[in-house]
Amino acid sequence: MELTQFSGGQRIERVLEGELSEARERSIMLLLEDCFPDTFSGRIYFQQIPHVRFLLFDGDLLLGQVAVDFRVIRVGKEVVRILGVIDLCVRSEVRRRGYGTVFLHVVAEQARAWRAQHLVLFADRSELYLRNGYAAINPAEVKWLAIEERQSYGLIEGDMTGTLFAKSLFFEPWPEGSIDMLGYLF
Ligand SMILES: CC(C)(COP(=O)(O)OP(=O)(O)OC[C@H]1O[C@@H](n2cnc3c(N)ncnc32)[C@H](O)[C@@H]1OP(=O)(O)O)[C@@H](O)C(=O)NCCC(=O)NCCS
Repeated sequence: MELTQFSGGQRIERVLEGELSEARERSIMLLLEDCFPDTFSGRIYFQQIPHVRFLLFDGDLLLGQVAVDFRVIRVGKEVVRILGVIDLCVRSEVRRRGYGTVFLHVVAEQARAWRAQHLVLFADRSELYLRNGYAAINPAEVKWLAIEERQSYGLIEGDMTGTLFAKSLFFEPWPEGSIDMLGYLF
């Protein structure tokens, strides 16, 4: 489904993961290799297949992508409906033109449409996210299912303060308390 058309002809499409053609999977693999070298080992997901991707094209050329995971997590006493933002990336030659920001707008629209209460992501750098309405969760004591080399090996608890960011979509504050991801760390 086509969502956004840019004046230069570029477009963002929304694709269910199960409907990706092999050719598209290959383009995503090459893009991820360009953006996250030596990370994906030829796959198009790091630990687990996401639910939906947004793909930015110029003609047939894939310029960028972001994936999302729809789930509930526990924060303290509350169960929160979230959309997880995964592997946002833009091809190196076309960075700093605002595509990353547009992707964040697109996932926020999607999250609101699905009545997710918060967008959630993990990142080492914060600039883009702080500029787009995300805040660092502090403190961020997180429990998650550890997966390594595509094998589960138990639950891990760790302090993710400084790397966990969230954006409220319906003016609800982030609840207090430790965070149980109810699954893997995207
Ligand atoms: C992060 C990324 C998607 C931004 O895409 P973009 O199209 O350049 O984004 P925009 O043009 O909307 O905004 C650019 C701004 O994002 C910020 N930014 C750059 N890299 C960033 C990063 N890794 N994390 C957070 N913010 C970042 C910078 O402030 C940059 O502006 P500046 O260079 O003038 O200071 C792109 O740099 C990228 O693909 N990086 C490699 C993959 C990656 O690290 N992804 C993030 C995973 S959490």
